Amino acid sequence: MRVCTIFVLAAFLSAGSSSTHFQDVFEASEAGQSSINSEALYKRIKRRIFLGQAPALLPPPPSQAVVSTYPIMVPGFAFTSSLWGAHGELWEPTGRLLDYSYAGYMANEAPIPINQTIAADVVQFGAVGDGVTDCTQAFKAAIAAVSSGVIYVPPGTYLITTQLTISNSGVVLRGAGAGVSTIYINNSLTDVFGQLWSGHGKDTNISAQSDWKDGPGMIRFAGPGSADLAGVGHVQIGAQDPISNATLLTAITGHALRGSVKVMVASTKALKPNQWVTITIGDVNGTLVKDLYNNVNVTNMCKVTGQPAYCINDLRVMRFHSRIYAVHTNYIVLERPLPFNISLEWVPEVHAFVPGIQQCGIEALTIQFQWKQYAGHLLEDGFNGIEFAGAANCWARDLIISNSDNHLFMWLSSFITVNNVTVTSLLGSRKGGCFYLTLS
Ligand SMILES: *[C@@H]1O[C@H](CO)[C@@H](O)[C@H](O)[C@H]1NC(C)=O
Ligand SMILES: *[C@@H]1O[C@H](CO)[C@@H](O)[C@H](O)[C@H]1NC(C)=O
Ligand SMILES: *[C@@H]1O[C@H](CO)[C@@H](O)[C@H](O)[C@H]1NC(C)=O
Ligand SMILES: *[C@@H]1O[C@H](CO)[C@@H](O)[C@H](O)[C@H]1NC(C)=O
Ligand SMILES: *[C@@H]1O[C@H](CO)[C@@H](O)[C@H](O)[C@H]1NC(C)=O
Ligand SMILES: *[C@@H]1O[C@H](CO)[C@@H](O)[C@H](O)[C@H]1NC(C)=O
Ligand SMILES: *[C@@H]1O[C@H](CO)[C@@H](O)[C@H](O)[C@H]1NC(C)=O
Ligand SMILES: *[C@@H]1O[C@H](CO)[C@@H](O)[C@H](O)[C@H]1NC(C)=O
Repeated sequence: MRVCTIFVLAAFLSAGSSSTHFQDVFEASEAGQSSINSEALYKRIKRRIFLGQAPALLPPPPSQAVVSTYPIMVPGFAFTSSLWGAHGELWEPTGRLLDYSYAGYMANEAPIPINQTIAADVVQFGAVGDGVTDCTQAFKAAIAAVSSGVIYVPPGTYLITTQLTISNSGVVLRGAGAGVSTIYINNSLTDVFGQLWSGHGKDTNISAQSDWKDGPGMIRFAGPGSADLAGVGHVQIGAQDPISNATLLTAITGHALRGSVKVMVASTKALKPNQWVTITIGDVNGTLVKDLYNNVNVTNMCKVTGQPAYCINDLRVMRFHSRIYAVHTNYIVLERPLPFNISLEWVPEVHAFVPGIQQCGIEALTIQFQWKQYAGHLLEDGFNGIEFAGAANCWARDLIISNSDNHLFMWLSSFITVNNVTVTSLLGSRKGGCFYLTLS
C-alpha cells in the first residue's frame, strides 16, 4: 500500500518570482512613500498578530523594529528557513518566498465551518450503502434538492457510476468519517464518456494523449459556466474564467515593482477600501515570462506549444488577489505587496474579485475507485477524484482518496484549503504524484 498524507495545502491566485528594465518610478519619485510603507507595514503586523498569538489590542503603527515580535505562524506549525527565519523575521516582500498567509479558506481569516445544518441524507433519496446498489441517482437527487447545507453520507459504501457535479454555493458533502463512509466509483471517465484520443500517448502531441489526463474530477464543485461533459471533448476543465472584460474595474497606468503596494490606476471610481480585487498582467511578446524567470533566455523553453520564443502568450495570465487598503486620487494602496513586477507592456488591470461557487466542502469520506492497473502518464483512464473549478472559500478535509489517477484538482479557484487528505493505492503502485494540483 502506498500512502501519502497531505496536511494543510492551500491555494490562492498568485504568482511571483524575477527581471530588469524597470525604474521603480514610485519608490524613487513619489513623496509620501514612507507613509505608504508604514500603512503596508501596519497591515502586515496586524496579519502577523492574527495568525500568531495575538495580544488583545493592536499596537500603534509600528516601527520596523517591532516586526519580529509578532510571528506569522499558524498555531501548530513551525518552519525555519533562510527565507523565513523561525518566526517570519527574515521574510521580506521582495524576497523569493511568497506571502502565503492568505492561502486557504477565507484567506485564512476564519475557521472552516463545522456543525452546519444537515439538509439531506442520501439514504432519504434511496441510496443503499451496501457497495452493490447503484446509488448514482440517489446522490444526484440529493444534490439537486439541496440549495445549501450538508448532504450527509451515513456509514456504508455507496456505488456511484458516473460524475457528480455540485454547482450550488454552500453545499457540503460530508460522511461519517474516512474509512466509515465510502463513495465507491467503479467507472473511469473513459468508461463513462469514452476517449477521442488516438492512443499513442507519451509524446508532446496533445491529440495523442488521454482526454482525462488533466481532469475533470468525478466529484466536482463547479462554478458558473461549468462545462457539461455529455458531449465529450478534450480535457474539460471545469468552469468559465472568473476574469473577463465584464470584471474589469480599471486599467493600471504605471509600473510597479514586486514587493510594493502602490498601484497607479486610470480611475478609482469603482474602487473602495477593503474591497477584494484581482490584479492581472499578461504576456504579449515574451517579456513577462522573461521577467518571471529572472531574465533567462527563453528561446528554447516552449517547443511544446510551438510558440516562437516564449510560453505565455495571453492577456491576464498572472493574477493576484488583494484587498484595497487605501484609495488615493490616481493610485491605490494594496493590503498585500505585489508578488510580481507590473509593466505597462503587460496590459496590467484591476478586476473585481469574482469567487464563483463558494462555501462548499467535502469532508470525512473515503473516495475509492475500482482498482485497475495505472495506464501510465498521459494515458490515464480518468479515475479522477475531486475537482474545484471556478470556486473560492471551499475545502476538502479528512478524506482518503484511493486508487485514483489524479486525486484532487483546483482550476480557476482561490482560497481553497486541503487538509488531512490521504491518498492510497490498495493493490499496488499507481505511480504518478500524490496530487495533481494546479494553483490557478
Ligand atoms: C522586477 O524588476 C526589478 C527592477 O528592474 C528587477 O530587478 C527584477 O528582476 C524584476 N523581476 C522580479 C520578478 O522581481
Ligand atoms: C459542534 O457540535 C457538537 C455536537 O453537538 C458540539 O459538541 C460542539 O461544541 C459544536 N462545535 C461548535 C464549534 O459549535
Ligand atoms: C459499474 O457498475 C454499474 C452498475 O452496477 C455497472 O453497470 C457497470 O458495468 C460497472 N462498471 C464497471 C467498469 O465495472
Ligand atoms: C498528432 O496525433 C494525431 C493523431 O495520432 C495525428 O493525426 C497528428 O498528425 C499528430 N500531429 C503531429 C503534429 O504529430
Ligand atoms: C475585451 O476587451 C478587449 C479590449 O477592449 C477587446 O480587444 C476584446 O475583444 C474584448 N473581449 C471580448 C471577449 O469581448
Ligand atoms: C538564446 O538561445 C537561443 C537558442 O539557444 C540562441 O540562438 C540565442 O542566441 C540566445 N540568445 C541570447 C541573447 O543569448
Ligand atoms: C514588447 O511589447 C511592448 C508593447 O507592445 C513593447 O513596448 C516592448 O518594446 C516589446 N518588447 C520586446 C522585447 O519586444
Ligand atoms: C484526519 O483524517 C482521519 C481520517 O482519514 C481522521 O481519522 C483523523 O482524525 C484526522 N486527523 C485530524 C488531525 O483531523
